[in-house]
Amino acid sequence: MNLIHKIEKIYKNMFNDEPLLVRSPGRLNLIGEHTDYNLGFVLPAAINKAVYFAVAPRQDKTCKLFAADLNEAFDFTLDRLVKSDKHWPNYLMGVVDQLIKAGHEINGFNCVFGGDIPIGAGLSSSAAIEAGLAFSLNQIFDLHIDKLSLVKLAQKAENEFVGVNCGIMDQFINIFGESGNALRIDCRSLDYELVPFDYDNISLVFFNTNVLHSLASSEYNLRRAECGKGVEIIKKEFSQVNSLRDVSRDLLNTFKSKMEPLTFQRCKYVVEENERLLKACEALKVHDLNTFGALMYQTHEGLSRDYEVSCPELDFLVDETKDIPAVYGARMMGGGFGGCTINIIENEFVESVSSSISKKYKQKFNREASVYVTKIGGGTSIVCKEENAAIR
Ligand code: GLA
Repeated sequence: MNLIHKIEKIYKNMFNDEPLLVRSPGRLNLIGEHTDYNLGFVLPAAINKAVYFAVAPRQDKTCKLFAADLNEAFDFTLDRLVKSDKHWPNYLMGVVDQLIKAGHEINGFNCVFGGDIPIGAGLSSSAAIEAGLAFSLNQIFDLHIDKLSLVKLAQKAENEFVGVNCGIMDQFINIFGESGNALRIDCRSLDYELVPFDYDNISLVFFNTNVLHSLASSEYNLRRAECGKGVEIIKKEFSQVNSLRDVSRDLLNTFKSKMEPLTFQRCKYVVEENERLLKACEALKVHDLNTFGALMYQTHEGLSRDYEVSCPELDFLVDETKDIPAVYGARMMGGGFGGCTINIIENEFVESVSSSISKKYKQKFNREASVYVTKIGGGTSIVCKEENAAIR
């Protein structure tokens, strides 16, 4: 049974009415890491792993949630939104909280959700839940919220209710993703450009360290604060500088002696990463995957040494690919401290490369590395009944 059918069935058994069915994807990011909250550039794409929702309105103020993958239920009412120790309900309650704060009229609702995005793997299961619910409630309550406002609302849910000061990338690509394309998002203007990424001869492959670092969200918030500290120092002399996006490598260098070494190191990574992303997009225009891959390795180096958000397991998985000609590039992806690496590998070698790296990983860390070959898909959308019937 496919996943959406499974979610629909659970929903109908529990609530016995016709729900709206929605597919909300995870994401990859080709390059441009930890640049979004510094108002720089990112290059993400939606993937073929997703969270599926079955949702319908109720006549009262009760919201009934059921997390199918965890087999756990959680109920709350619209007039009492209190952070839960269970953690997962917070991603959903955060969205409801934002809708109410923005003055939207909603009722209670029933919601069953679940999918195949591994949690904590850096594939953005949290944004898929937030943006997927925001999209679904927008539909069932006819709220007429435009796409960009949905993105911002879902991001704010994570910032304010979950407490992670994330940037806008994950929610943005979740809503705006397009099949066969990455999006070059300018996180300052929020404009974006489609960047085709549709090669017959290569695959996008994730190696999951299966390491979940509890440090991830606190260190994430700390990195963001460190970048802010750098901006403050520069702004004292250059008032037009509002983020690291406004800072060139040369300007940053003139402030080296005025910053703590760690602050400088963090800012340096971000400024360089924005430059790298622009070069990477130029390389893609001429289908130069060798240059693109080399830039991915440089990004990893920066994330590991300067930004310090990698971990030995991620470093190992990236290092092991370096001498394999069939691998164009690899790097850690997402917030860091665990999760996946993203690899560009020639199709015919995907299996041999994956099995040899998994074996070495197991020997070194006594832990399995999961392997996913992914495809770029579209953003969050309604699953229509015919489509659902056809894939059943
Ligand atoms: C997480 C955040 C994003 C982004 C990445 C790092 O996925 O949610 O906003 O900052 O980390 O690039």
